[in-house]
Amino acid sequence: MGKLDGKVAVVTGASRGIGRAIVVLLAKEGAQVAINYNNDIAGAQEVADEIAAFGGTAMLAQADVSDSDQARAMIKKVAETWGRLDVLVNNAGITRDKSMRKLTDDDWMTVLTTNLNSVYWCTSAAMPIMIEQKYGRVINLSSYVGQAGNFGQANYAASKGGIIAFTKTAAIELAKYNITVNALAPGFTLTDMLSKVAESVQDQIKSKIPMGRFGMPEEMAKAVLFLAADADYITGQQINVNGGVFM
Ligand SMILES: NC(=O)c1ccc[n+]([C@@H]2O[C@H](COP(=O)([O-])OP(=O)(O)OC[C@H]3O[C@@H](n4cnc5c(N)ncnc54)[C@H](OP(=O)(O)O)[C@@H]3O)[C@@H](O)[C@H]2O)c1
Repeated sequence: MGKLDGKVAVVTGASRGIGRAIVVLLAKEGAQVAINYNNDIAGAQEVADEIAAFGGTAMLAQADVSDSDQARAMIKKVAETWGRLDVLVNNAGITRDKSMRKLTDDDWMTVLTTNLNSVYWCTSAAMPIMIEQKYGRVINLSSYVGQAGNFGQANYAASKGGIIAFTKTAAIELAKYNITVNALAPGFTLTDMLSKVAESVQDQIKSKIPMGRFGMPEEMAKAVLFLAADADYITGQQINVNGGVFM
């Protein structure tokens, strides 16, 4: 018996990194999962193959979630295919790091649209389905940077702080329908996103983490599974999985 038998889950940005680890773990626990991706079809197919290999059920769900029409159509399609939608993990995210002196309006807009608007597009599309079911678990990937700020990440920090504020408001509005909305705030986690940071900077970052190492995608996935399967009376919260870098 899996913890999510009979449940349907969508994970945005699940072709690699944290999203991949999340979608695989949810599938291992019995959920039928939709693997959303934008460009990386090979990565997404690899994730689907991994899930099929242990007998899980997965579908690919291509959509640029920064586009409201695509995001909403993707959510609708998953719910129509499997007849319900129980767990939405808003994970897709990007960085375009520059100090504010160099940041362009396009850098600002692209990051805000991809990281924050997408959370609203997907959640508001899932909302009527979850209300009808009187059940839903929405988990939004924020970041410790949305709590603490970080040099060179004004756009990213604003998007991730916005996610925390959105999470609390959505939690208040949806609680009466048995829909919980929570945020996960990872610290620095070993994925492609982190590998874009220069190695010398990575060493500096590591020296500030009390646990002395970066997080692993699978460690983020375990916290998401907890919020999806075992956290019935938790809503509007941020779970920090960050090795102690922000307390
Ligand atoms: N890594 C960290 O240190 C860290 C720390 C705190 C929070 N986070 C957050 O955790 C989440 C996952 O990060 P990660 O490190 O796993 O990133 P990653 O390895 O760069 O993967 C990003 C994923 O998002 C997808 N994506 C990007 N833009 C998209 C769009 N417009 N529509 C649909 N999918 C899109 C990518 O798919 P395609 O390539 O197919 O487009 C990919 O699957 C992000 O929200 C990030 O901000 C990460």
